Amino acid sequence: MKVLVIGSGGREHAMAWKLAQSERVAKVYAAPGNGGTANEAKCENAPAALGDPATDAGQDALMGFVRREGIGLTVVGPELPLAEGIVEKFRAAGLAIVGPGKKEARLEASKGFSKAFMRRYGVRAAGSETFTDPAEALNYARNHFNGKQSSLDAAQPLDVARPLVVKADGLAAGKGVVIAGSFAEAEESIAAFMKDKSLGAAGSVVVLEEFLPGREVSVLAAVSVEPGRKGVIRPFVSARDHKRRFEGGRGPNTGGMGAIAPVPDFSAAAQRDFDTAILQPTLRGMEAEGMDYRGFIFFGLMVQDDRCSLLEYNVRLGDPETQAVLPLADFDFADLCTAIPDGTLAAFPLTWKPGAVCAPVAAAGGYPGSCRKGDRITINEKALEKTGARIFIAGAQRAAAELHTTELYTSGGRVLAASAWGPCADEAWTNAYRALEAVSFEGMAYRKDIGRE
Ligand code: AMP
Ligand code: GLY
Repeated sequence: MKVLVIGSGGREHAMAWKLAQSERVAKVYAAPGNGGTANEAKCENAPAALGDPATDAGQDALMGFVRREGIGLTVVGPELPLAEGIVEKFRAAGLAIVGPGKKEARLEASKGFSKAFMRRYGVRAAGSETFTDPAEALNYARNHFNGKQSSLDAAQPLDVARPLVVKADGLAAGKGVVIAGSFAEAEESIAAFMKDKSLGAAGSVVVLEEFLPGREVSVLAAVSVEPGRKGVIRPFVSARDHKRRFEGGRGPNTGGMGAIAPVPDFSAAAQRDFDTAILQPTLRGMEAEGMDYRGFIFFGLMVQDDRCSLLEYNVRLGDPETQAVLPLADFDFADLCTAIPDGTLAAFPLTWKPGAVCAPVAAAGGYPGSCRKGDRITINEKALEKTGARIFIAGAQRAAAELHTTELYTSGGRVLAASAWGPCADEAWTNAYRALEAVSFEGMAYRKDIGRE
C-alpha cells in the first residue's frame, strides 16, 4: 500500500517514519513534507506544485495525485486542511482518509463551539463565556478584576488576583491565548483581537475563561465515531509539551520546545478521572451530535490533585507530542490508520513499549521571534547512533540546488527534535541530550529541562 501524509512538521516526519516501518507500506508520500520526510527510508515528498492542502485547489490537486499514484490511504497531520473540509472531499470521491470532517473540526477551529459542546455533554472544563460584542467582553473582564462574582467562577471563592484567560475563537496558530493578570492586560488583548483584528477573523469572537492552576497533560487518542454506530475513543500513552521558550517555563509561548511520554505525574487515579469526566462524555457527545469523526483527537488537560479539566480539544495529533508518543507504539501505525475509518478500532491491539521517550526541540536562534534560516545542519552519525535517538525534522529542507544530496538546511523556527528512548525517564533524558550534542547548526538553541520542568 502507498500512503500519503499531509503536513510539513516534526509530527508529520514522525508519522511518516512510523508508517514506513509497516511491512504493508511500500511507500509514504508527504505533502508538502520537509527535508526529514525527503530523507526518510521508503518516503518521498509529493511535488510542491500540488499547492496548499488547506485550499480547494490544493485539495483537488492532491486528489489527482492520490489517484495517479494509486495511494490507498491519506493521513492528515495539521488542523487547517481538516477545518477546510479535506476529509469530506476525499470521502465523496471514494478515497480513504483519516481525519474528522469539517463540522467535527470545529471542536478545535472554534473555541466557542467546543466550549458549548463541553457544556452540553458535561465534559469537565474551565468555566467560560463567549462574546461577540467587545463592550460586553470588557464589562465582563472589568467585573472579574473588580472582584464581582461572575458566572465563570460562581463555584469558586472570590479572589481578585486570579488571572482571566482571553482566547480568540478561531484558529490562531498558538497566538490566540493570553493569560491576563490585570484588567489592563485583558482590555489590551480584547481590543487587539476584537477591534484591531490582530488575528483577522479568528479574533472577532472571544472566549473569556477561568484560569486553572495545575500541570498540563496531553492525551492523544484514536477516534472512530460514525452516525448510527457505537463509537470508540482509544487513548494513547500520556504526553507533555513544554510550551514556553525558556527553562523553568519562562518566556514567550512557542509551538512547543519538547515533549515527553508518558507523563510520570499523570497517576492511575488521574487517568480514571480523565476517562469518566472527559473522555466518556466527549464520546457520548460525538454520538449524540451524529458526528462522523474517524481520525485523531488531542485532549489538552490541566490536572491538579488527580482531577482533570479540559483546556482544549485539537482534532489531530499533537506536535511535538507525536514525536515522543509514536516511538513508544508497539503496533503497526498503518494498521491503526486503516482500523480507524474501517470501524475496527475497538478491537485494535493498541500496545505500548515499556520505558520513556524524551524529545527536546532544537530551534533556530531568535525563535519564537524572527530567526535565521538557511544554516547547514551537521550530524555526527556515530555519536547519534550510540544514543539510539532519532532526529525528527520540523523546519529544514534540502538545498534546492542539491536535491540529490541529503544535506539539510534550516528553514523554520523549530528545526528538529531528538527523540530518545530510555528504560526510565532519566535515561531517556540523558540519551536525548547526548543526541542533541551530536547535532549542530548556527544559532541552535534548546531547553535543557524537557521532562524536568
Ligand atoms: P492553547 O493555545 O489553547 O493551547 O493555550 C495555550 C496555553 O495557555 C495552554 O497550553 C495553557 O498553558 C494555557 N491555558 C489555556 N487555557 C488556560 C486556563 N483556562 N487556565 C490556565 N492556563 C490556560
Ligand atoms: N502541542 C500542542 C499542539 O499540538 O497544539
